[in-house]
Amino acid sequence: MAQYTVLILCRLLPLAMCASASEDFDWTNNDMGSFQYSTFPTAFSWGAGGSAYQTEGAWDKDGKGMSIWDVFSHKRGKINLNNTGDVSCEGYYKIKEDIMLMKDMKLNHYRFSISWPRILPNGIKSDHINEKGIQHYDNLINTLLENQITPIVTIYHWDLPQALEENYGGWQNSSMVQFFNDYANLCFERFGNRVKHWITFNNPWSVAVEGYETGEHAPGLKLKGTGAYKVAHNIIKAHAKVWHTYDIQWRSKQKGMVGISLSADWGEPVDVSHQRDIEAADRYVQFSLGWFAAPLYTGDYPQAMKDYVGKKSAQQGLSSSRLPTFSPQEKSYVRGTCDFLGIGHFTTRYVTQKNFPSNRGSSYFTDRDLAELVDPLWPDPGSEWLYSVPWGFRRLLNYVKSLYGNPMIYVTENGVSEKLMCTNLCDEWRMQYLKDYINEMLKAVNDGVNVKGYTTWSLLDKFEWDEGYSERFGLYYVDFGSKDKARYPKASVHFYKRIISSNGFPNQKEIEIWKRQATETCTSSNQLLAADPLTSHMEMVTEIVVPTVCTVCILLSAVFLMFLLRGRL
Ligand code: NOJ
Repeated sequence: MAQYTVLILCRLLPLAMCASASEDFDWTNNDMGSFQYSTFPTAFSWGAGGSAYQTEGAWDKDGKGMSIWDVFSHKRGKINLNNTGDVSCEGYYKIKEDIMLMKDMKLNHYRFSISWPRILPNGIKSDHINEKGIQHYDNLINTLLENQITPIVTIYHWDLPQALEENYGGWQNSSMVQFFNDYANLCFERFGNRVKHWITFNNPWSVAVEGYETGEHAPGLKLKGTGAYKVAHNIIKAHAKVWHTYDIQWRSKQKGMVGISLSADWGEPVDVSHQRDIEAADRYVQFSLGWFAAPLYTGDYPQAMKDYVGKKSAQQGLSSSRLPTFSPQEKSYVRGTCDFLGIGHFTTRYVTQKNFPSNRGSSYFTDRDLAELVDPLWPDPGSEWLYSVPWGFRRLLNYVKSLYGNPMIYVTENGVSEKLMCTNLCDEWRMQYLKDYINEMLKAVNDGVNVKGYTTWSLLDKFEWDEGYSERFGLYYVDFGSKDKARYPKASVHFYKRIISSNGFPNQKEIEIWKRQATETCTSSNQLLAADPLTSHMEMVTEIVVPTVCTVCILLSAVFLMFLLRGRL
């Protein structure tokens, strides 16, 4: 009997303790279940996405100011093969063409971002508004609406006006809160009569950590252990201010919603019966998603972050934590400022506890005291960091439901890339990824998670930040070498189209037919692509070689004529 009690205690104690780590989330319930054949609720919104710097090109056209990404990518050695977003997909000039692609897929929404320096060249509203930039987004929004595609608009997808970085230190400076609010207010004023879904920030984790901690992203600062926390603090306040501005000034007239898009990998404990692993996995998610979601839903940083950054700061002899604090007024100001939560999700990690000595300098990564692991059996068809682990998606969505009171969720990014300069349009692995991830989302919806829409990432291949053009996330292949940046559908276009038209997964047989038919279409598209170098070659002959030869001939004849005339005189 005593033995039995010990056993029961051993099983129950971790559960009780984990409840304190992450409230109601059940870490031990990781039943994967089999594939579900059913449909999403009616009015579920299907979409695809992209962002300004990654797709627009036209970096210095029509009065656009410079962004930190223009400057960063122009520095040698920052981006793979020194690629830049100067031209990219030329999306700036291809509104109609790209919307035709969306229409053909019967997308319900398209997620894009506004480039801050395109409409406010030096970032400050009172200085100068670039009307040509405004016209561009007017045109994009209007064309989407004419085609019954709902615009979901991100106000900030990383391209901060360079002037704000140079003159103020960018997001490190709390004056950004006001500048961002003015910019967002201008967006509401000019576009809010037509845009009803606003996302203030895209993936602020990356802005803070990759921009100001590791320096892999613009503006490339390496302020280890301090920069990211400071930047995140200003971003959270800026988000809250913009939400209040919308709430007070625009909501009653425009009747839209303001949310944020947070990126989060799922963290699964290596050993789910091990309390230290459960806490480490929870910390992993709290240090990414919770860093931003907790203040916006509960008014303060996650307890785990306060404890760990506080503890490490003290060990380093600092008199206060490197993690900033919110005053009581700020807490109530930031709490409750999300009408919906955008979730960007791509992958999962196993997580275990690992202590990092605090005397080796401070860093966001070592503050967490954990190690990330991957299962070598997980497929990783594309980016180095992106392993396909569909079940992690359902777990993450349920975690959000438990921790933040079942908020309204839009999946704002989910997808997979292919390795290097792959030109295979038969993207079998992407169809598999979409099928499995979307199915896990369907299970989450059936678990009661309030997911309203799904955005696959991305519509087109595009500039993939520090990886340049080497990682292709698009459903459409973009031939960056061709003059017109031609788009070609990969097989996944046809597959995704079928998921959309069925609003889910009817039955196994049907899905096998979708896959087979999608694969048939891509083999013929592949031939088109193979013919493309020839077309580009012909273009070169007609557009460069012929005019050059003609000019040389004319010049030579002129010289010859001159000599002839001289001889006669
Ligand atoms: C998240 C970023 O928001 C997006 O811009 C990027 O393309 C994807 N991650 C894939 O890396």
